[in-house]
Amino acid sequence: MSVFDNAAWAQHERVLHCSDPVSGLRAIIAIHSTVLGPAAGGCRFWHYDDDTAALTDVLRLSQGMSYKNAMAGLSLGGGKAVILAPEDRQLTDPLLASFGQFVETLHGDYITAEDVGMRVPAMQVIATRTRHVAGLPSTGGSAGGDPSPKTAEGVFAGIRAAVRHQRGDASLEGLHVAVQGVGNVGMNLARFLAKAGARLTVADINGARVAQACEELGAEAASLEDILFTDADIVAPCALGAVLDAESIPRLKATIIAGAANNQLATDEDGQRLFDAGILYAPDYVINAGGIVNVALEYEGGFTEADVDARVAAIGDRLGDIFVQSDREQRPTNVIADAMARALIAGD
Ligand code: NAI
Repeated sequence: MSVFDNAAWAQHERVLHCSDPVSGLRAIIAIHSTVLGPAAGGCRFWHYDDDTAALTDVLRLSQGMSYKNAMAGLSLGGGKAVILAPEDRQLTDPLLASFGQFVETLHGDYITAEDVGMRVPAMQVIATRTRHVAGLPSTGGSAGGDPSPKTAEGVFAGIRAAVRHQRGDASLEGLHVAVQGVGNVGMNLARFLAKAGARLTVADINGARVAQACEELGAEAASLEDILFTDADIVAPCALGAVLDAESIPRLKATIIAGAANNQLATDEDGQRLFDAGILYAPDYVINAGGIVNVALEYEGGFTEADVDARVAAIGDRLGDIFVQSDREQRPTNVIADAMARALIAGD
């Protein structure tokens, strides 16, 4: 099949395959759209079964970034990068520097930042080769730094919006929330939820993170297999994508799904399945935009953390609009969000 006929291609503007025999770098940078501005999206460091899996992942993620950035009201297009983990799984400085050099060849058409497997120190190495990078340490109250606390802040605002829509009151006091994955975003989210009086159940493949959530926040631990199906009011997927599918959806007991993970729906039809089951789903790329808002304002410069917080709080209102439109049109929330994002990109 021609590459242009590949469904995963999804009308990408440009895809750059990066290979550097000296550092051993193998990476892919996908630019889905620059219509609204330079393509922005994080770089993921991951071990893929093969190159095709890496390409499919980066293409799906970069299209999602176009939608996410448009819905966050940012003057940014969508892009994403993956660095394919070498056999020894080590993310070395030479790999990062080499990646930075490839980013620089795009002259600002792509702006990189953290994603899974990447932290602030990695961005600092990339920044030795290109200025088209964000997620660098912030100074004196300016926007910047690790985006994941801001992602958690946005997810928290989104959960409150979902609760308000469903119950007429945004209070989380006494509500039960199951958090799948208490990593950077999940743990910060759990802290917000605990402070708001929610009861928590958590699961993570990393036992130390679970122990921390139980000790610090009074959470209960669930097994990896059961967490999604906890008898809770809300499930917040904050680990992996594609957790909502034809097999898992009928087993859900919660009536709100609102979490940080990218690509939570295995297929678009799963949005319809959730809708038919009466489950309110907060579209992932709308609710998890807090981090990219932080990245965007850092990159643009001249913004404070308070500016970021104001923009992140607006995520709740945007989701509220999607929920209302979904009820009115009797169409799933993911369909409503996709249509809104496409209209914004098309300038409608
Ligand atoms: P992270 O790597 O810090 O946390 C993920 C956590 O999930 C880890 O603690 C990991 O042990 C756990 N985990 C992995 N597999 C699991 C499984 N099968 N069951 C339960 N737990 C499992 O990543 P981070 O930054 O917290 O991101 C979480 C999700 O949110 C990812 O899907 C990411 O793409 C998405 N996201 C993150 C943003 C950010 O600002 N960090 C922004 C937007 C989306």
